[in-house]
Amino acid sequence: MDLVPMADILKKADKEYYAVGGFNINNMEFLQGIIWAAEEAKSPLILQASEGAIKYIGMDYVVNMVEAAVKETEIPVALHLDHGSNYDVIMDCIRNGFSSVMFDGSKYPLKQNIRLTKEIVKAAHSVGVTVEAELGQIGGAEDDLEVDEKDASFTEPDEAEEFVKKTGVDALAIAIGTAHGVYKGKPELDFKRLKEIKARLDFPLVLHGASGVPKKDVIRAVTMGINKVNVNTAFQQVFTAKIRELLDNEPELYDPRKYCGPGRDAIKAKVKEKIKVLGSENRA
Ligand code: G3H
Ligand code: ZN
Repeated sequence: MDLVPMADILKKADKEYYAVGGFNINNMEFLQGIIWAAEEAKSPLILQASEGAIKYIGMDYVVNMVEAAVKETEIPVALHLDHGSNYDVIMDCIRNGFSSVMFDGSKYPLKQNIRLTKEIVKAAHSVGVTVEAELGQIGGAEDDLEVDEKDASFTEPDEAEEFVKKTGVDALAIAIGTAHGVYKGKPELDFKRLKEIKARLDFPLVLHGASGVPKKDVIRAVTMGINKVNVNTAFQQVFTAKIRELLDNEPELYDPRKYCGPGRDAIKAKVKEKIKVLGSENRA
């Protein structure tokens, strides 16, 4: 199957009240663990790569590995740029075959974020590519993107409405109390704010920084209108923990297939768990 625009996957999720995982790939084992889990669960899938992951893997490798992975698959898969920081990076992904991009202009003042996002939407939509944007700043760290707790800010419902109307984006990442990476304390999600935003925008909303959010809160957020849930850290943690365990137990191990393979299985099991929580099983 060819890659599909993320908008197609999210429109169905929004209509039928479930969420699809925006699952990050960091190497081949991540890609295989994720897509094999989604295939077994018959779930639609958003494979995403951050700028840092693209730098690490290489653009050609990302696109060709994903193409190889989706060639024989029956499930709908989108390839999405996670937290794209500027126009050039985004155009490079589109030229190379991504079916979806995120422009993260959340660090800019509202007017500037609107202007920059609108420009990207115009270019992306002209070639059928979906755009996710972000409003409000999500704290924590992912790759080179680091937002100090004091600079994190929640999404204002009025601004979200204005932003979507003026930019024409397909999905909006909102800040309601989640953070990227490992949580310092217990995450407190602002569900009232989510309700207000969804009431103004009957439209796909995205939850970033979902790795450390308790299952019950993710389920609540999904039932209240979140349609894409991003996970990266949780997969990094299980992959590394499995490899660490194996190398600790067998210090003489040297064949990478003997520890990366079980690491990949650990990612696959975690992806299946997340798919169940998001309700996207058997929705492909
Ligand atoms: O954009 C990617 C996700 O927001 C990652 O969140 O660090 O909780 O896995 P996470
Ligand atoms: Zn994120």
